[in-house]
Amino acid sequence: MVKPSELERDKFYKRAKERGYRSRSAFKLLAMQKRFKLIQRGDVVVDLGAAPGGWSQVASRIVGNEGIVVSVDLQHISPRGISSTAKVRFVRSDIRDVASTVSAIREQLERFEGGKRLADVVLSDASPNLSGNKSYDHYLSFLLSVSALKIAVELLREGGNFVAKIFQGEDFQHFYKMVKQHFAFAKPFTPEATRKHSSEVYVVGKHFKGRREETFAVNEEK
Ligand SMILES: C[S@@+](CC[C@H](N)C(=O)[O-])C[C@H]1O[C@@H](n2cnc3c(N)ncnc32)[C@H](O)[C@@H]1O
Repeated sequence: MVKPSELERDKFYKRAKERGYRSRSAFKLLAMQKRFKLIQRGDVVVDLGAAPGGWSQVASRIVGNEGIVVSVDLQHISPRGISSTAKVRFVRSDIRDVASTVSAIREQLERFEGGKRLADVVLSDASPNLSGNKSYDHYLSFLLSVSALKIAVELLREGGNFVAKIFQGEDFQHFYKMVKQHFAFAKPFTPEATRKHSSEVYVVGKHFKGRREETFAVNEEK
């Protein structure tokens, strides 16, 4: 738990307030965007584990009025002020239930003119509720990351991009290997805005290889 006095000293917290972002996490996505050019103007972006909405704000500002952002979380996300231009839709769903999350996202995408069914970018900043037991928390975050990858495999167009957060731990390499199976380029990245004591790391996947029969099932076996 971060103390209020610590927050006030935190430069990303201050910057988020100044720039109207709902979370300091917005600067993590901005850093990854700067480094990896994940999102383009006009893109369809799916944001998993999106509450309170900082990443969705960043994504909607980048995609502009031709783009679409679908924000997914277990919690309600207030739509007020998320975007003045992009079309942003909200889905309340547990991403561990991959099939129903995918169909809820598709339902939203089909509502837009032209009915695009595929996404250009799938992002996941989903975090489990922390128990304090490092290896258990790592395992829960591994399960969320695998769900995010499965959702990405269902929804991404060929050539699309992906990012998922995972806590460092024994299954990190396993997850990284799974991302490498599906993307031509993969790299772990820790943004400056990640807190020093945090074990979070983001795995970036670029250029989705496509939903081919042999790669469609995400292989969870080591
Ligand atoms: C660190 S916050 C995301 C912050 C967000 N990227 C932002 O910039 O505002 C992690 C989110 O993951 C969500 N989450 C955790 N487990 C989830 C699940 N199984 N399905 C959907 N969302 C989940 C939590 O509700 C929480 O809102």
